Amino acid sequence: MEIHTARLRLRSLRSTDCSAWIAGMEASLELHRAWVPAVTADRSTRFAAQLAEHESGASWKGIALAEDGRIAAWVNLNGIQRGVSQCANAGWSVSAPFAGQGMMVEAVTALLDVAFAKDGVALHRVAAGIMPENTRSLRVAAACGFREEGFAPELVCIAGQWRDHRLFAKLAREHRPPG
Ligand SMILES: CC(C)(COP(=O)(O)OP(=O)(O)OC[C@H]1O[C@@H](n2cnc3c(N)ncnc32)[C@H](O)[C@@H]1OP(=O)(O)O)[C@@H](O)C(=O)NCCC(=O)NCCS
Repeated sequence: MEIHTARLRLRSLRSTDCSAWIAGMEASLELHRAWVPAVTADRSTRFAAQLAEHESGASWKGIALAEDGRIAAWVNLNGIQRGVSQCANAGWSVSAPFAGQGMMVEAVTALLDVAFAKDGVALHRVAAGIMPENTRSLRVAAACGFREEGFAPELVCIAGQWRDHRLFAKLAREHRPPG
């Protein structure tokens, strides 16, 4: 499934994305360092693990491509639960050259289109945890219609410290149909 937005094309990760994925991650190290868990394995191992996770159905790993073909953003639905839950945790990061241009709101809206589409991931609920200091990410969540549901102390270890997160979610019925 592919989603086209005003400036981006969202699709799932492919094996041929490896070098662009690594180049984009390396260009964005500084931007990501304080906010997302560090990559401990070497980058091609990390890419292979992400692809395997996607192909197993455990997660949906996506990239948003700019008009020139570069990766503008990474958007994921992690830890997909089926059965009576039908939910996943959203994760998002912008590629540094595309930061601060509203691309992330476009990419996350498209991610939610994929998440809730019956011919996409067909989820009922998408959750997101955001550090209270991550103003930019909080604004992305608000712009994409996430509702705040609670607070989780010391939820994730980032850059060596257990960090509190504000908890958000969006249900399928709360999301506008794509198009
Ligand atoms: C969080 C992140 C994805 C936001 O990306 P972005 O490119 O700034 O997003 P957008 O341009 O779509 O902007 C989102 C909002 O933040 C606002 N914003 C941009 N720069 C900002 C800044 N320095 N301070 C506060 N708000 C800012 C934008 O104005 C926009 O708000 P608006 O829609 O109300 O105008 C990006 O900073 C990033 O990748 N950070 C590192 C990884 C990360 O934090 N991931 C999320 C973990 S929960």
